[in-house]
Amino acid sequence: MSNTTGIKEVARRAGVSIGTVSNVLNRPELVASSTRQRVLDAITELGYVRNDSARQLRAGHSRQIALVVLDVTNPFFTDVVRGAEAAAEEHGVMVVVCNSGEDAGREHRHLDLLEEQRVRGVLITPVDESPNSRLELLIQRGTPVVLVDRGSGRHSRCSVAVDDLLGGRLAGEHLVEQGHQRITFVGGPASITQVRDRHAGIAEAVAGRAELSVVPTPNLTVAAGRAAAAEIDATAVFCANDLVALGVLQGLTQRGIRVPQDVAIVGYDDIEFAAAAAVPLSSVRQPREQLGRTATALLLEEIEDDGRHEHRHVVFQPELIVRESSGRPRTRRPSRKGR
Ligand code: RIB
Repeated sequence: MSNTTGIKEVARRAGVSIGTVSNVLNRPELVASSTRQRVLDAITELGYVRNDSARQLRAGHSRQIALVVLDVTNPFFTDVVRGAEAAAEEHGVMVVVCNSGEDAGREHRHLDLLEEQRVRGVLITPVDESPNSRLELLIQRGTPVVLVDRGSGRHSRCSVAVDDLLGGRLAGEHLVEQGHQRITFVGGPASITQVRDRHAGIAEAVAGRAELSVVPTPNLTVAAGRAAAAEIDATAVFCANDLVALGVLQGLTQRGIRVPQDVAIVGYDDIEFAAAAAVPLSSVRQPREQLGRTATALLLEEIEDDGRHEHRHVVFQPELIVRESSGRPRTRRPSRKGR
């Protein structure tokens, strides 16, 4: 049902003009109370729902912002979305979530559609960071953008991130302090800035103190971590995120390799499943909901501001959470049957 057809039926049922129905919806103070009530009764009887996107498009803007995430199956982004929605709802704004799946082509298509829909602004963890990317074009054409989980030195947008260099250093210091001399970094595509920064951080921390090897993976998933487990020849592993770390844990365990006795593991994000893993996972914690909430607040400030907005780059500090996968192995307790 098109928006106009809906309004026509309401006007006919109430015995008024389409303009009067529009006024009841948008400027009720202009309509006599008896007429307004007849229109509202007709709306209820017909179950009419206004097509807000058409109205907003005619007005030139919508009450929607978009959040484009790298991987919708990653609980890290679930928590980021939760924080973004909480901040947006306080302003009566809806968050449209899009998944790029770490694919630049999909990201491009999403940004095309979001611009057509006239979303008020875009939160994004970008795949394509090239100077001539679709994201840069969106910004040049005037759509406010805030980078999420990604720092940015550029002044054409805000960004909210965690100090991934420090996060890598924290993981490296911890593993060296645990006595590890051979460490492997299991990272996703080096095209992802966070992966590069976390790798650089551990490399700085262990330089001259331990040997660091790298096992790159095609993406940041459990399956990629499970496959990478076969290539690990080290006593400790630092993974680019928790999904990869959980995959490495599964792959090593399937090969009869004990964690942490034979190989220690540290992940990144500290998603809920890290603590719940069969061997509770040590991880570098990111303030996930706070990332989403802060990025949204910056975006809404830019959207609702009258030009006074100044772009800012917010950087949160990571925190290392040590659990069994890299700490002292749990002392073996006798089974309940006493064996
Ligand atoms: O944003 C890239 C990666 O950084 C995501 O996979 C997420 O886990 C975060 O750690």
